[in-house]
Amino acid sequence: MDSFSTVIRTASHEQHTEAETSSFMSDLLGGRLGVEAYARYTEQLWFVYEALETGADRLTSDPVAGPFIRPELFRLAALERDLAHLRGAGWRAALSALPATEAYAARVRQCAEQWPGGYIAHHYTRYLGDLSGGQIIRDKAEKTWGFARKGDGVRFYVFEGIGNPAAFKRGYRELLDGIRADDLERQRIVAECKRAFASNTAVFRALGREFPLSA
Ligand code: HEM
Repeated sequence: MDSFSTVIRTASHEQHTEAETSSFMSDLLGGRLGVEAYARYTEQLWFVYEALETGADRLTSDPVAGPFIRPELFRLAALERDLAHLRGAGWRAALSALPATEAYAARVRQCAEQWPGGYIAHHYTRYLGDLSGGQIIRDKAEKTWGFARKGDGVRFYVFEGIGNPAAFKRGYRELLDGIRADDLERQRIVAECKRAFASNTAVFRALGREFPLSA
């Protein structure tokens, strides 16, 4: 039988491709978008991580979600530095969530408050992705818009506290494999992971409408 980390990875594979190849992401990675589009995307991430990380504190003692809460993953402070760089000191006043982002963040918050297993699905979808493909996005952003390597503007993608991302991901997959959940709950978590991917794709779609280059 496949390990849970393999099940969740396989189950989301198709949607991963969909997110990766969305027109917004393709345009972003293709260097066809201005820094405004990147800033708008970074703003959307702020809402998602605000929901993920505000809910994290009270989950540290949870038997299911607790082991996943690792401060070295936290991204909100890095996002805030990036936004200050991208938007200026007044970034917070102009910050706004797209409706798709609003819905995504609301679901993360709901899971954080009511369903630790669901929270893990969202946690996995974001942080493991940031540790993987996020590095490709960082590299491209640095080259396209001239941010200093691993500096302001791309700090979101730099995990200062994680020296070896590959090893960290291995440890994370072990945590997933050892998750305290029965088969039914595992199935629910996989379904929530798919929902998390769909939420990301919905945000990309909305951003694609705002910055319609491929169209
Ligand atoms: C252009 C955008 C993206 C690129 C280039 C990309 C690329 C990658 C790469 C290269 C991996 C590494 C696979 C491995 O470890 O062998 C990965 C893993 C992953 N990505 Fe992405 N990705 C992108 C977007 C996304 C998005 C939007 C999400 C969801 C929010 C996401 C979630 C994940 C997850 C959860 C993993 C870990 C899979 C696992 O090993 O369990 N990725 N991605």
